Amino acid sequence: MRAFLFIPSRMSKLITLNEFILKNQSDFPFATGELSRLLNDIAVASKIVSRDVRKAGLVDHILGAQGEKNVQGEDQQKLDVVADLAFIKAFELGGEVCGIASEENDDFLAFSNEISKNGNYVVLFDPLDGSSNIDVNVSIGTIFSIYRRLSPKGTPATEEDMLQCGTAQVASGYVLYGSSTMLVYTTGNGVNGFTLDPSIGEYCLSHPNMKMPENGRLYAMNEGNINECEGGLKEYISYCQSRENQTGMPYSGRYIGSLVADFHRNLIKGGIYIYPDVLSAPEGKLRLLYECNPLAFIAEQAGGLASTGRKRILEIKPERLHQRVPYYVGSKTMVEKAVSFLK
Ligand code: AHG
Ligand code: MN
Ligand code: MN
Repeated sequence: MRAFLFIPSRMSKLITLNEFILKNQSDFPFATGELSRLLNDIAVASKIVSRDVRKAGLVDHILGAQGEKNVQGEDQQKLDVVADLAFIKAFELGGEVCGIASEENDDFLAFSNEISKNGNYVVLFDPLDGSSNIDVNVSIGTIFSIYRRLSPKGTPATEEDMLQCGTAQVASGYVLYGSSTMLVYTTGNGVNGFTLDPSIGEYCLSHPNMKMPENGRLYAMNEGNINECEGGLKEYISYCQSRENQTGMPYSGRYIGSLVADFHRNLIKGGIYIYPDVLSAPEGKLRLLYECNPLAFIAEQAGGLASTGRKRILEIKPERLHQRVPYYVGSKTMVEKAVSFLK
């Protein structure tokens, strides 16, 4: 049998995340490089977490419960803590960040070293999203949100730095530890996605200028909660399952239970993700600062929408670090339609 060697006639040049960040920085003549360095720190920390995720099942300290609960009363997984520490260390040593708030910690953290106190940024993040999926080898992620500090440089970060409206985000993004590891981010100038090539240890631009399809036929919601939802939402879900929608066919239900993974699929294929307020979670389950705002920024930058059902997510003035909100995010037409069903 003859073997064919496939040589592509036009090979395009690989663009690494580093190159991409530096190129974007040079578009802003007064940029100091601090945000670029911070994005690079996030990329490096995410590679460490990705490496650890890939070892889950092989190494003892990675799989299973930590035996502690976080401030929100949820069981912490070992990998939640591993990821939390990896990112905190990157931020503390990086010098661009004066403080952080993480889903896994009771309070925000103001870094005490002199270099960090002069950092211009704060980062709010969910170190490991979808952690109930770790032990069953299903996609999980990291979500982050970057703001410019409000407190004066040289002083410790304050709670006010953390409680800013989503519209003030300077950048946000997520890392998906899926069948491959991807980093997707925005600095308010479109959304770009990078896939980690493990053989060279670099994120490479694989999804330039991502746009969320304006409409879709995928809906994601934990339908185990349906009887606890308001009537309008029950009607919307019935609409999704009927032939009354624009496709003339029932939509497909897809629910992974990792927000990052459900969001990423909808970003590429078009769809809606819903986590409403339910009896067991009267304010909703998802956290405004660590989950909803960063993904809302990405959704809007890609042409989608994010709402509580009543209000644009990015315009909510946060009152508490671990505040939760109902969440409708995804393709513009689908979110508008869902919201139109709510009374
Ligand atoms: P986390 O693992 O960071 O606590 O987040 C879990 C979130 C989100 O990722 C997911 O979509 C949702 O909780 C799943 O909740 P249910 O199990 O209630 O559907
Ligand atoms: Mn989460
Ligand atoms: Mn989490």
